[in-house]
Amino acid sequence: MPRDNVILIGFMGAGKSVCGRMLARRLQRCFVETDDMIVSRAGRAIPDIFRQDGEEAFRGLEGDAVEALRLKSGHVIATGGGLPCRAGRMEALRELGTVVWLRGTLAALLERAGRAGGRPMLGGRTPEQIEALYHEREAYYAQAHVVVDIDGLTIDQVVARVLGLLREPHAARL
Ligand code: S3P
Repeated sequence: MPRDNVILIGFMGAGKSVCGRMLARRLQRCFVETDDMIVSRAGRAIPDIFRQDGEEAFRGLEGDAVEALRLKSGHVIATGGGLPCRAGRMEALRELGTVVWLRGTLAALLERAGRAGGRPMLGGRTPEQIEALYHEREAYYAQAHVVVDIDGLTIDQVVARVLGLLREPHAARL
């Protein structure tokens, strides 16, 4: 029996955190972010974890966060952009509740991701490498229950679309 969490996934810059926080407020639910779980458990910022221990160690911490999420119900959960992109992760997320992919074109996502900064997966990569990463990840994200196309939408509009989709009978577990 799937749980009743709402899980936001998508590439860096998709607005998972800001939309998740607003969505949680609208639904009167608790909000949790996997990146925050990792930072508070590790006692270090994400760029420090990447620099000191490497990407694989960070992905392991993401696996621990997914395990910890199994205890949650009724939450809105924002995931890090790379969290779903390992074997078994999408299955695990789908068991937690309704998985929503905030999908955008790479150009729009990068513009927003670039503004926020502090993203080790973007630093030191060529545009071609970032594009390859984006396409590799699409196959994972595509396993979401529902998709919201975010290009050109404001945060409010994205949240309204997510709420609308969650209320449709086939997606709703609210
Ligand atoms: C990552 C995305 C980041 C964060 C980490 C790695 C990725 O989260 O988890 O820097 O691999 O895409 P956001 O998607 O919130 O930027």
